[in-house]
Formats: sequence, C-alpha cells, structure tokens
Amino acid sequence: MTDAATTDERAQARARFAAPRAPIDAHLDRLTTALPVPTNLRDAIRYSLLSGGKRVRPLFAWHAAVAVAGDPDAGPASLPAGAAVELIHAFSLVHDDLPAMDDDDLRRGKPTLHIHAGEAMAILAGDAMLSLASSALSVPPEGGGAIGDGLHRRLVAELNAGTLGMISGQVLDTLGGFEAGVPDADRVERIHREKTGALITAACRMGALIGLDRAGLDPEGDGAACLDAVSRYAEAIGLMFQVVDDLLDVEQSSEHLGKRAGKDADAGKLTYPGVHGVERSRAFVGELLDCAVDALAQLPEKGARAESGAGGEDVLRELASYLAQRTK
Ligand code: IPE
Ligand code: IPE
Ligand code: MG
Ligand code: MG
Ligand code: MG
Repeated sequence: MTDAATTDERAQARARFAAPRAPIDAHLDRLTTALPVPTNLRDAIRYSLLSGGKRVRPLFAWHAAVAVAGDPDAGPASLPAGAAVELIHAFSLVHDDLPAMDDDDLRRGKPTLHIHAGEAMAILAGDAMLSLASSALSVPPEGGGAIGDGLHRRLVAELNAGTLGMISGQVLDTLGGFEAGVPDADRVERIHREKTGALITAACRMGALIGLDRAGLDPEGDGAACLDAVSRYAEAIGLMFQVVDDLLDVEQSSEHLGKRAGKDADAGKLTYPGVHGVERSRAFVGELLDCAVDALAQLPEKGARAESGAGGEDVLRELASYLAQRTK
C-alpha cells in the first residue's frame, strides 16, 4: 500500500489482512470459556484478553504461515501459535498498566484490569495468561490436527525467546540497567526491539515455521532462506510498531487511542520522539517499512510456494504498510 493508494484500495487491503480476526477471536474465546480455574480469575482473563485489541500478533502468525507455505490453508494451522503470543501480549499489557509500572487506568477503551478487578487479581491474571500461553500451543484449532513434536519444540523455543525479550525490554524501560555511557539512541532502540519487537518477531517466526512444516521444508536446510527473510521483516516491523506507538502517545488523544495519551514524557520514558524528535521518528518509520518490504522480496520462490503461485507476502506487505500509518 503506497501513499497513492485510493481509499477503496486501502479498504480492500484492510479487509484482506484483517479477515482472520474472526477465527482468531473465536479460538481465543474457545480456549478460555471453560477454563477450570476460579470464576473470578476466568472473568479477569477474559476481560483483558477478549476486549478488542487489534490482534496484530496472531495476524502476523497467520499471514506468515500462508506466505511461507504458499497455501491459504496454512492460516488456520497458525491459530495455536497466534493465541499463545496473544496471551503473552495480554499478560504484558495487564502488568504494563500496573501502578508499579506505567500506572494506567485505561486500556482498549475500558478501565485497566487492576482498576476493574484489583491489583492482586491483575498480577495473578497476568501470571495465569503466561502459563496458558504454553498450553495453548497444544490445543488444535477446531477441525485441525495436533502439531508434531519437532514443530512443537521449535514453537516453544520461539515463544520463550519472545517472552523473555519482552520482559527484558520492560525491565530496561521501567528500571534501566544499561552500562554507563550507552547513548540514549542506542538505549531506546534496544528497549523497543526487546519490549515490543521480540513478541512480534516470535509471532512471525512461529507462523513461518508452521508454513515451512506444511510445505515440507526444513528451517535449517531448504527453508532457512525463507525463515531468514521473515525474521528480517519481523525485526524491522517490530521496532517500527513501537516507534509508531511512541508517536501516537504524542499525537493522538486518549479517547481515540482507548489508552492514556501524552504519558511517556511525563513518566520520563525514553521514546523515539523524545530522543530524535517527531519528524526524524516519522522518517525512521518509513525506513523501517522499506526494510521490511525489502526483506519480503527475498522470500524465495521455490518448492510449494512457487507451485501454488500464491503471493501471501502481498498481505504481509499490506499489513506492514497499515501499521506504519495506523492512528491507534
Ligand atoms: C500495545 O500493543 C502495546 C505495545 C506493545 C505497543 P497493541 O497496539 O498491539 O495493543 P492492542 O492489542 O491492539 O490493544
Ligand atoms: C508496552 O509499551 C510494551 C509492552 C511490552 C506492553 P508501552 O508502555 O508504550 O505500551 P502502551 O502504550 O502502554 O500500550
Ligand atoms: Mg510501558
Ligand atoms: Mg504502557
Ligand atoms: Mg506506549
């Protein structure tokens, strides 16, 4: 999607990349509807998980799987991975909003979980979602089969790396911990790559691994170039996503965002607009988008992808372009 795209073209692109939202939401609902935990804990989990986020991470998993397999049927196979990452994301938001962290009272247009259900429940619901995320990897989508052992092991490793990266980034963002003398520009880049980029990278790589599995390609052999291209796309978009989040905090209203705006500077956070200014940050967004699009162009056209003629990477490109221009 270029700046010159018409409103119609934008709407069509959006319909294409957002189409899996319904099955993603249905799968998240199914995973949590009969959880054998106290009702108040189940309600708290569902309050934060099913409250209408953009579902960007499961969408990445879905579209990466389709693009790599060259097969639209690979999308539903990504649901367990997408749900696992979304559960980690929801846990990260609940804890991010706590008084000890960003101390926020509004999330997705509703009171944050600790305002709604108390601080102890918010801590425990976050803990529960962390645990649920790993079990989610073993729950097949409706009508789908279980994941094989080799793929499951790889997905667990990606999920853990993404989670640890997110937590490390949150520590650096909230408590610091850098060596003396590291410039602010390097600090903020590392924080953003970790607190936000790591989970987005996990979502994309998990999708790619599922796509490779379906296409019978080995991530360490004939599928390595595909996985590498998706990883480079994901790393650029992961950083871009948080640069845009920083810009929205400066440029949008709380009402529009459904979360408190204008808080980062007050809280003394290291942000891209704070370190580089708004104009340079917008330029970075464009550069990172270009990087991501270049990486997609490196997806090799061979094996199952070439035979099917499916250009799933178009949707990944449209999703990236939408995320560069998003206003919430
Ligand atoms: C917000 O993530 C927190 C960040 C990592 C920037 P999203 O912007 O994906 O939030 P939801 O899931 O759509 O609410
Ligand atoms: C959050 O960054 C990153 C997470 C890991 C949750 P922010 O603190 O900027 O996210 P928002 O603006 O509260 O959604
Ligand atoms: Mg934060
Ligand atoms: Mg926050
Ligand atoms: Mg923010």
